[in-house]
Amino acid sequence: MARAQLAYVCQSCGTAHTKWAGRCGDCGAWNTLVEEQAAPPVGATGKRTGKGRPFVLETLVHSGDPPKRRTTKIAEFDRVTGGGLVPGSAVLLGGDPGVGKSTLVLQALAACANAKQTAVYISGEEALDQVRLRAARMGLASSPVQLGAATCVEDILSTLASGSAPDILAIDSIQTIWTSALEAAPGTIAQVRTGTQDLVRYAKASGTAIVLVGHVTKDGQIAGPKAVEHLVDAVLYFEGERGHHFRILRAVKNRFGATDEIGVFEMTGGGLNEVANPSALFLGDRSGLAPGAAVFAGIEGTRPLLSEIQALVSPTSYGSPRRAVVGWDSGRLAMILAVLDARAGLGISAHDVYLNVAGGLKVAEPAADLAAAAALISSFSGRPLPKDCVIFGEIALSGDVRPAAQSDARLKEAAKLGFTRALVPAGTKADGLRLERITDVKALVRSLGETGG
Ligand code: TYD
Ligand code: MG
Repeated sequence: MARAQLAYVCQSCGTAHTKWAGRCGDCGAWNTLVEEQAAPPVGATGKRTGKGRPFVLETLVHSGDPPKRRTTKIAEFDRVTGGGLVPGSAVLLGGDPGVGKSTLVLQALAACANAKQTAVYISGEEALDQVRLRAARMGLASSPVQLGAATCVEDILSTLASGSAPDILAIDSIQTIWTSALEAAPGTIAQVRTGTQDLVRYAKASGTAIVLVGHVTKDGQIAGPKAVEHLVDAVLYFEGERGHHFRILRAVKNRFGATDEIGVFEMTGGGLNEVANPSALFLGDRSGLAPGAAVFAGIEGTRPLLSEIQALVSPTSYGSPRRAVVGWDSGRLAMILAVLDARAGLGISAHDVYLNVAGGLKVAEPAADLAAAAALISSFSGRPLPKDCVIFGEIALSGDVRPAAQSDARLKEAAKLGFTRALVPAGTKADGLRLERITDVKALVRSLGETGG
């Protein structure tokens, strides 16, 4: 018999090395190589059997109706998955420990079960009574979700094989799953990868839609990310700042839908609530406006989302000025500060600068540039921005303001929430709101000097 193959697998990137080393040659991480037994090749001794079996090649045309998606009736969840879970697909739901993954999954399963779909929840982390207690607290105790506490993938698969395949299966979490075919400890890349492969194969064969819960490591990656992300059809991240009560579900990969959609939830004592109007939530109370707060009319996926960008510019007390950014890219802030100095002669760079997107939201759109610049100028000059005004537009290195996509949707959302004015890039058209078209940062400084206060 051939000796079992040993490999040293990097727990950060999943690369297998033949020799142990202190540092992974592939991703450069230190002390991440762990000895693991390579998974035995599926269904064979590893020897080539010579001839393969031929198969029939098919056309792209789908015969019959496309499979019906399994909607959870939780609109925010269904939006992010692209309109419900696809039968036979596997979705990885990642997030920090404690962010609310188990809560979300249980709620989604209960909603499916209430809609006459069969839903199975396998908990590898919590005992059944803990799950029941949670369900009771969320008022879901009477939902016909089938519960199981198991961690061995063979046990799970043979349990499922003994009945009819469920419509939806959740595994909480993939890091606790292990297969007896491997000697490696649960949670290692080899175990996570083999467990995922087995479950994905089951999903494809049975038509069950699977949700795999995965914990994110402290540097923000699902453990064994490279090893698992390509195996599943969709990767969703559930994020939220500690201390804030709302959570954002975001698709980072989706074979069956757009990846830029977000779903917004609020964590309450009785589980997660959908937030149908997130703009109102992220803006909060805007009665007393301090200098340095600007409302950015953004787009998340197909949905407009207003958020407040706050800036604080204060004299530097040490040699080099401090910069701190929450919810925005710090490189982008450095660029805006440089452009404001170089093109509008502000002299802001020598100051301490703090920038924060209110409510724990993360903004990645370049169209937030103009709102960030307005917040910075407002804090620098001590003049509050007008209360009823939204801002968007991308700033180029030349200082010019460039147009942003979907300006109509942004302005409509602003009008809906009672805003009457907007600072926008030149060329933006809209009725309803009073638009002030800004061509470059100089014009922005001039405009804020006139209208502020
Ligand atoms: P949980 O779903 O267990 O997180 P994860 O599975 O991602 O580790 O959620 C844990 C947190 O959510 C916990 O800190 C308490 C909070 N929570 C509520 O505030 N209300 C609730 O109804 C529930 C179930 C949890
Ligand atoms: Mg959990």
